[in-house]
Amino acid sequence: MCGIIGYCGPREASEVLLAGLKRLEYRGYDSSGISVGFRDNLQVYKKKGKIQALLDVVPESLKGNWGIGHTRWATHGGVNDTNAHPHCDCTGKIAICHNGIIENYVGLKDRLTDEGHRFLTETDSEVIAHLVESFYEGDLEAAVKSTVTLLKGTYGILTMHTDHPDEIIGARNGSPMVLGIGDGEMLIASDVSAMIAHTKQVVYVEDGEVVRMDSGSYAVTDMRNRSVDKKVDSISWELEEMEKGDYPHFMLKEIHEQIDSVPRAIGGRIDEDQATAVLGGLNMSEMELLGVKRIVIIAAGTSYYAGCVVAYLLESLARIPAVTELASELRYRNPIVEEGTLYFAMSQSGETLDTLMAIRELQRKGGRVLGICNVVGSTIARESDGGVYIHSGPEIAVASTKAFTSQLTAMYLFILKMARMRHMAWPEGKRFISGLLGIRKHIGRILEGENSIRELAVKYHKFGNFLFLGRGINYPVAMEGALKLKEIAYIHAEGYSAAEIKHGPIALINDQTPSLFIVPDDHLRDKVISNMKEIKARKGLVIALCVEGDEYAAEIADDVLYVPNCDEEFSPFLMVVPLQLFAYYCALELGCDVDQPRNLAKSVTVE
Ligand code: F6R
Repeated sequence: MCGIIGYCGPREASEVLLAGLKRLEYRGYDSSGISVGFRDNLQVYKKKGKIQALLDVVPESLKGNWGIGHTRWATHGGVNDTNAHPHCDCTGKIAICHNGIIENYVGLKDRLTDEGHRFLTETDSEVIAHLVESFYEGDLEAAVKSTVTLLKGTYGILTMHTDHPDEIIGARNGSPMVLGIGDGEMLIASDVSAMIAHTKQVVYVEDGEVVRMDSGSYAVTDMRNRSVDKKVDSISWELEEMEKGDYPHFMLKEIHEQIDSVPRAIGGRIDEDQATAVLGGLNMSEMELLGVKRIVIIAAGTSYYAGCVVAYLLESLARIPAVTELASELRYRNPIVEEGTLYFAMSQSGETLDTLMAIRELQRKGGRVLGICNVVGSTIARESDGGVYIHSGPEIAVASTKAFTSQLTAMYLFILKMARMRHMAWPEGKRFISGLLGIRKHIGRILEGENSIRELAVKYHKFGNFLFLGRGINYPVAMEGALKLKEIAYIHAEGYSAAEIKHGPIALINDQTPSLFIVPDDHLRDKVISNMKEIKARKGLVIALCVEGDEYAAEIADDVLYVPNCDEEFSPFLMVVPLQLFAYYCALELGCDVDQPRNLAKSVTVE
């Protein structure tokens, strides 16, 4: 989604802004632009396409020490140079960048047009520049505050004015914004990745707050002009973690990082003696945890599928009724919040708007929501009533991979804790812990066999449709595998319960629609084998993703991939990795932009 960055300081602003926009690229965008102030002039450059297109038009000699920049992910108005941000007012003295959606822009635009303002773009955002112009009477911050009181929707806005050199005003409602405190310089952005090269000292801006910054100072106030005391936080990520290193793509790097990210999510959270997990951030006493009668997990996309795996295991191992719901649906469903229900919001970025809004709706109704996030200090992490960080390190590729297995890890620890508090005996707890600790080794083995997955992708990447089929705890993994293939290789794929295909999707089967079956050595294996045979009987191609030694499954299938055998409940960790790699190599064969697939954004901060 859109990214924003602002800079005030001694350096050439264009250099800082363009480097920051490069770091924001991973969020997904279709155009970009900057506005740099020099003397009483705003120099605005905007370009459709990759940041390189912008770099090609911004003069290297561009002077000016304060400015704002933007990567746009189009919502209102086509993808072209004009609609790219920053947008200016009629005088050309004011420039704004906006992340979010202004829902009432049509009425505002009509009114401003009647008042004589000239609009140049089709965007919702341009109204902001003209509103600031209409309110401006010498105090830029006051004009921004008057503007945002009229806006309905979500926004992270940066504003600059030629009469206010070395000053940027930021305002936030629903879209992320973080201030970076440097040495004699100040940054503001939608994401810490844009500023980590300059500072690790940050202040998170909250909804309803307005920031005024210059190169040496900042002040945060609320809409009633009351000063807000802000805590300065430190970013724990290192710049190198955001680099590709020797890998050709971030996605491949992040798939490989699972060897370390899974153990990192476990680190320090196991009590071997008591055979349980220690999760301090839950902010709940043992008595409160014992009182939990039901668990609802809310999430989107890959996080949702991780949630589905977790819900399955919460029921089977901890014996707590659990469901996973799409955050986007729950928030408009008028959910019933009952005593004894505990909610989890799972989100890698911690900024997904659907999930955030669902949390707020649940909290409004008295629900307790715990966050399972990766990005420390993200909005969801801050607004949750407690939670667990998954610590998988920055996930830069748009397609989520390592976050999935780390989300599972963090929640498996919670399941262990809940199960041990109920009926799980000590030896069972020990067995569970050793299973969890063994995942790293198994993932390593799968990665060693990466070539066979690549060969499979070479053979199958030209097929236009796939079915991914699994059962039980691996049914969500089938959906995740299909999602990966869709989003990065643009191959149509459906994730289904293997049991359900006879109720409809089997009609799709022909020799042009391969079915990839997930066949762990679990209590449903024989049923899945029967489903494979049903496909073979209809001349469908079958790929079996099964455990080493399962010769029978291999005989039925046209092609086979193996993963090490493990206890049933840990199989999702192992089954998902080959599916991530399969999608990756199919995308590579098809020449797709693996890390930044078309139309997608990393952090989905609009509805
Ligand atoms: C898929 C993907 C998305 C995200 C979804 C939720 O590869 O990346 O489906 O999983 O947008 O994002 P988070 O977890 O940041 O809330």
